[in-house]
Amino acid sequence: MANVIIVGAQWGDEGKGKVVDIYTEFADNVVRFQGGNNAGHTLVVGNETTVLHLIPSGILHEGKRCLIGNGVVLDPKIFLKEIDGLKKKGYLKDDSQLVVDGNVHIIMPYHRAIDIAREHKSGDKKIGTTGRGIGPTYEDKVGRRGIRLVDLINPSVFARKLKEVLPEKNFFLEKYLGQEPLSEQEIIEEYTAYGERLKLYLGNVSSLLHTSIKQGQNILFEGAQGSLLDVDHGTYPYVTSSSTVAGGASPGAGVGPTHIDEVVGITKAYATRVGEGPFPTELFDEMGEKIRAVGREFGATTGRPRRTGWLDILALKEAVRTNGLTALVLTKMDVLNDLEIIKVCTAYSHKGEMLEEFPRDFEVLKECKPVYEEVEGWQQDINSATTLEELPAQALKYLEMIEKWAECPVVLLSVGPRRDQTIQLKNIFA
Ligand code: GDP
Ligand code: IMO
Ligand code: MG
Repeated sequence: MANVIIVGAQWGDEGKGKVVDIYTEFADNVVRFQGGNNAGHTLVVGNETTVLHLIPSGILHEGKRCLIGNGVVLDPKIFLKEIDGLKKKGYLKDDSQLVVDGNVHIIMPYHRAIDIAREHKSGDKKIGTTGRGIGPTYEDKVGRRGIRLVDLINPSVFARKLKEVLPEKNFFLEKYLGQEPLSEQEIIEEYTAYGERLKLYLGNVSSLLHTSIKQGQNILFEGAQGSLLDVDHGTYPYVTSSSTVAGGASPGAGVGPTHIDEVVGITKAYATRVGEGPFPTELFDEMGEKIRAVGREFGATTGRPRRTGWLDILALKEAVRTNGLTALVLTKMDVLNDLEIIKVCTAYSHKGEMLEEFPRDFEVLKECKPVYEEVEGWQQDINSATTLEELPAQALKYLEMIEKWAECPVVLLSVGPRRDQTIQLKNIFA
């Protein structure tokens, strides 16, 4: 019996979707607690690929309840489209499988417009956001002028709140960002219709989860983005606008930290990043191209090519510490199959000084040069291995080195995108 938080231990896209899909077997509830449809979580079952942006990655399992906690920012159009897509494929036959907390903040058209126009205006200082309106929605949440799901489903409250906020948004859009103002009437019509449909999924996620806990059921918390994109602990300002680290699960789902048993961080066997921001181990050569091609490193949300590089132990240790990781999952080992030598960054050099801890000062970080250790590659296909015994000695060595450097045990190994391309080393739910 365990309540487990799954988080990305790098800059996102570590394979959280796949791992949550696998672990759903052992859980009764799967809950998203932060972020929005900036996330793109890919599940591959047999020949069928499903990419989820908002709905928790447990949804392919009938009878497992999927919940969207208050800490998420929700774009109703995308959410409803995702529901329709899943139903078309034969999933989500029972609507009670999906619950959205009334306190989620709604991504409004002005949030998307501001996100995109602000990025455009920033030129080479841009963050490289997904353009989904995530940052502006969280700004309004903290600024106490957000519109929540409970507001949206009540037409008179929604109209009143929109009337209060829209003039300021239009002023900013027109006068500062040079955009067209948005029509209040059009927004009311479109969003009131969304509210009507969303009523079906409305619930009190915190209360439902507490009832589950009392009944001895398990909860799987599904993080989005990655620890290095956390608004406090990431490479600020090149971060997303939510608390992506495990601690965010408590306020984001309304479950106190006393109920959490395990915190699992997902890391690839190398590193990637989408958007701008420091990435000390980034490769700009043929090796980087090769990892991108073999690993199919293109964004599941925006389709942008992901930047690629070697595994960075300093960044990984930062994730181990800021999340309090109790275990690691290592994904995409297979992508390194035919490499003769694999490099791992175990220190940075900065102005002649060796650093062993990830620097918090952005000005220092951007000048850091990686110091590598080399590990021998296994140069054979490991994609169909289902037990540790089937892995070549060099692959086992790589895994053990990562555990040693990160000071955290690996409990699951992923050797391909499919659900069955997975080796379990230890069952954390047992
Ligand atoms: P998430 O955002 O953390 O859920 O990750 P994404 O779905 O954005 O990106 C991970 C990508 O890698 C997806 O295309 C997965 O299907 C794929 N993937 C996951 N695990 C593995 C693995 O072990 N090997 C390979 N080759 N692909 C994997
Ligand atoms: P998953 O859950 C990778 C990045 C963006 C940008 C920064 C801020 O699939 O791992 P935002 O739109 O959030 O304001 O953009 O964060 N980013 C992600 N990178 N995976 C994600 O999600 C991401 N979500 C946001 O590229 O650099
Ligand atoms: Mg992703």
